[in-house]
Amino acid sequence: MSDPIYVAFATQKGGVGKSTLTALVASYLYYVEGIEVAAVDCDSTQHSLNVYREHDLMVTKENPYLKRVCHKFYSQFKQKPYEILLTSPADAIAVTDNFLKAGNTPQVIFFDITGTINDHDIVNLIANMDYLFVPITTETGEMASSISFANNVKNKMMATRVTNVKEMHLVWNKINTREKSRLCEIIDDYIEKMGLDSLDTVLVKSNKFEKDGRETGNVGLFRSTMLPPDKRLLKGSNLEELVSEIRNIIKV
Ligand SMILES: Nc1ncnc2c1ncn2[C@@H]1O[C@H](COP(=O)(O)OP(=O)(O)OP(=O)(O)O)[C@@H](O)[C@H]1O
Ligand SMILES: [Mg+2]
Repeated sequence: MSDPIYVAFATQKGGVGKSTLTALVASYLYYVEGIEVAAVDCDSTQHSLNVYREHDLMVTKENPYLKRVCHKFYSQFKQKPYEILLTSPADAIAVTDNFLKAGNTPQVIFFDITGTINDHDIVNLIANMDYLFVPITTETGEMASSISFANNVKNKMMATRVTNVKEMHLVWNKINTREKSRLCEIIDDYIEKMGLDSLDTVLVKSNKFEKDGRETGNVGLFRSTMLPPDKRLLKGSNLEELVSEIRNIIKV
């Protein structure tokens, strides 16, 4: 059994989509593509992935429509939901090691990391990743923050080889169209000169991302840690394209 691949969607700025993309990609790989995954929630202040899981458990019990969807899915899937480990940046690697020593064999482990590159524990944790994906949006502050984060990781960590990180790519999120906008292309040209690049796939800005079962009635789920995304909601989101591009990079 080969070593699991450590992957993180990371950047210092809040609200750009780290936890959302982590949950979406982990769930798609596990529930749709059958890849064994685990997730490590290292966001000590919010524990978003854990909050998602608790929410998902609640809605699949309490919403009759989602309860039926869940029952139908698990009667065929025959596996438990993937594990979400709850920890801090300082303990994340030790907690993951123990999880692996206990006989768990995920192919990919996603770490939800939040915080600045000036924090010693965060730097150590990022240095343990195999692949980093840095969400970036076209909002000016978020854009500058993600570029600065990626540039720091590249110059302070990757260039000095004090890291396992093999590749890092920015990923455009919350874009109004399914293709890169002119602004994305201009920024791509700019970051290329810094030795950075972004994925071809962009994620559209859409209220699908809020479809997590909080609405009542027969509304499907897009982001769930317990179920695959509803096929109707998947259409036009570019999530399948994103997963395919990521699989090519991390080679699973
Ligand atoms: N492509 C998208 N379209 C619409 N809404 C989105 C999209 N991606 C993320 N969101 C929304 O943006 C908000 C912030 O996302 P998320 O919590 O994933 O950010 P984060 O980077 O993990 O933030 P933090 O640093 O606070 O942990 C959430 O409400 C999420 O649903
Ligand atoms: Mg988060």
